[in-house]
Amino acid sequence: MKTKHLISISDLEKTDILEIFETARDLKSKQKSGKKYTPLTGKTLAMIFSKPSTRTRVSFETGIYQLGGLGLFLSGQELQLRRGETISDTAKTLSRYVDGIMIRTFNHKDVAELAEHSTVPVINGLTDLEHPCQALGDVFTIIEHKLKIKNDASLKLKIDGLNKLKVVYIGDGNNVANSLMLLCAKLSMNFTVITPAGYEPDKNIFNSAKEISADIKLSNEVSESSGADIIYTDVWTSMGKEEEKEKRSTIFKPYQVNNYLLSKSKPDCIVMHCLPAKRGEEITNDVIDGKNSVVFDQAENRLHIQKAIMLLLMK
Ligand code: CP
Ligand code: NVA
Repeated sequence: MKTKHLISISDLEKTDILEIFETARDLKSKQKSGKKYTPLTGKTLAMIFSKPSTRTRVSFETGIYQLGGLGLFLSGQELQLRRGETISDTAKTLSRYVDGIMIRTFNHKDVAELAEHSTVPVINGLTDLEHPCQALGDVFTIIEHKLKIKNDASLKLKIDGLNKLKVVYIGDGNNVANSLMLLCAKLSMNFTVITPAGYEPDKNIFNSAKEISADIKLSNEVSESSGADIIYTDVWTSMGKEEEKEKRSTIFKPYQVNNYLLSKSKPDCIVMHCLPAKRGEEITNDVIDGKNSVVFDQAENRLHIQKAIMLLLMK
């Protein structure tokens, strides 16, 4: 992989993305067949969390362990960062101990600064702007469900079929939407983001995505979701935006993923959500628990994709 860090989907070229998918497939099949594979023996990943997490924490910690290494959970609350130690001093210090740093925090620029001063790879485990590991796991899940490529490790991934699928993201134009949009653009996928006015994805990321692909669309109309092959949603109130929760619940109501919305999509449409979900808000119980939902496959694939990312960056 050409990049040293994974801060944004913009760090990746198409060949890097394919290499991550190919590696994840291989690691997943090794894992499923019970084969031990420990190429990161003796390596340590520092995991800084300044926001809560279930999936990201457990999948990174389990993933590095399965590859033979050690995951070190570091709460942002307990590091000296909280008492004012600079990001650059933190990066330089951690680089003397560990072989990789994963960080989940608020300000995207902090992650870029950490990477600038780190001599070891830095992986973005979610910022207010992006969630690249999530997007990679999600497109990997789409490939598994929609392209049905035979599980033959020597087979090069044939992902051309991806551009025939209509992906609709509906809800808040947040970190998850930003990364997914940019990744879909890089893979020439047809991607529509439907949000209430004023809640569109980040302008710069949208412009970059649009420059890469003409098949990236923004809309405020729920009806634009009809005929979707994939419907994706996420919470209306992301971490750090809790004070806007009530206002958002009202504004976003028409954008709920429910059976009516699903009835307008293709019969074999898959429903996706990065989780955690606010059941009854952005998605109803019957849809998230229904036959079209693949949300727990997405959660599982975070493990395989992140193992691939760690392997490619840290080996
Ligand atoms: N999807 C995701 O990143 O979940 P966590 O917040 O539980 O890590
Ligand atoms: N958009 C959500 C994603 C959580 C995984 C948030 O930032 O809270």
